[in-house]
Amino acid sequence: MTKEEKYQSVLPQIRSLLSGEADMIANMANMVAVLHETFGFWWTGFYRVVPNTDDPATAGELVLGPFQGPIACTRIPFNKGVCGTAWAQSKTIIVPDVHLFPGHIACSSLSKSEIVVPFFSHGQVFAVLDIDSAELNTFDAIDQEYLEQLATLL
Ligand code: SME
Repeated sequence: MTKEEKYQSVLPQIRSLLSGEADMIANMANMVAVLHETFGFWWTGFYRVVPNTDDPATAGELVLGPFQGPIACTRIPFNKGVCGTAWAQSKTIIVPDVHLFPGHIACSSLSKSEIVVPFFSHGQVFAVLDIDSAELNTFDAIDQEYLEQLATLL
């Protein structure tokens, strides 16, 4: 099965898994589990945007959410690492080789390539989906297209 065929088969699965369930964390957890199992990624998970209640005027930070894979960094500042950059720029970032991304945050030395997709609510990023691969050059426009479709399901 090609990567595109895999995405085409998991999208309806995820859609039906999430339909009728309003709890965001539960839905994030199942979405991550399906992706991780189907594609065999190294690490698949969410970071949620959490406001700074002491200073609501600032952006806040990303805090680790549901994930599958090895333990990961808990907090990522705005505009830092691939995740914080995808959040700051409100766009998907594909990193073919993490060693060539300035400021990449290495939660695992085995991670070699990465994609981060922002999830929006009312035009604001409320979470990012971060997927790491143990191989170089894993992610391309096909991953971006289908993962951005997933981003409309939460
Ligand atoms: N590499 C990410 C950090 C999160 S871990 O990969 C799970 C980054 O640079 O933002």
